[in-house]
Amino acid sequence: MNTQHFHTERGCLSYITYDLKSKEAALIDPSAEMTSEAYVDFLQEYGLTLRYIIETHTHADHISSAKEIQKMTDALIVRHVNAPSRTKDVVVSGGEELLLGDVGLHVISTPGHTNESISIYNGAEVFTGDALLIGGTGRTDFQVGSSDALYQSLHSALGSLPPETLLRPGHDYRGRNQILLGDELRTNPRVAMSEPEFVSFMNEYHPPKPDLFERAIEENSQ
Ligand SMILES: [Fe+2]
Repeated sequence: MNTQHFHTERGCLSYITYDLKSKEAALIDPSAEMTSEAYVDFLQEYGLTLRYIIETHTHADHISSAKEIQKMTDALIVRHVNAPSRTKDVVVSGGEELLLGDVGLHVISTPGHTNESISIYNGAEVFTGDALLIGGTGRTDFQVGSSDALYQSLHSALGSLPPETLLRPGHDYRGRNQILLGDELRTNPRVAMSEPEFVSFMNEYHPPKPDLFERAIEENSQ
């Protein structure tokens, strides 16, 4: 598998991951802050066929361009069963395998930031949306978040992947887009907390709402 990242000025990350043999691709978390052509031009340049557009969760800080890209590519939109959007061609809840040629993308349920957060594991990289970020985690104080669930997602679901897996987060505000999962789990200050410490810290953690909050939730839920 190969992967190309797309980083917006406001720190949102999307990824095209693709199988070199079949040339089939999946686009994870497309953002309207990138032009749709940026994604489609990349697919064309590398001769790729887009099979899936995967939303790791309903984003509260940027508008998704999943529907626009779908019109340009005919790819299937993949969302969790609990996602409020009715635009779901493939409904997942964790445990599924989405095929790109002979290669499976494994859907892992990683709730906590929202109750419909998923991570995608391609055998070498894990795309975690906002469940696990470099040096941090997603917040748990809206979108049916749960600090208890996020603790389990970090320690059980993501913690059981091989440490040499490359973590590909859904955001980074310092320009990074990858780190070894084992290194991140060892050094992330929130992962280092005990379960009671983590739950009480996250339950008290209320950063300002993102700029686009209302509009993003509304548009991304359609
Ligand atoms: Fe988020």
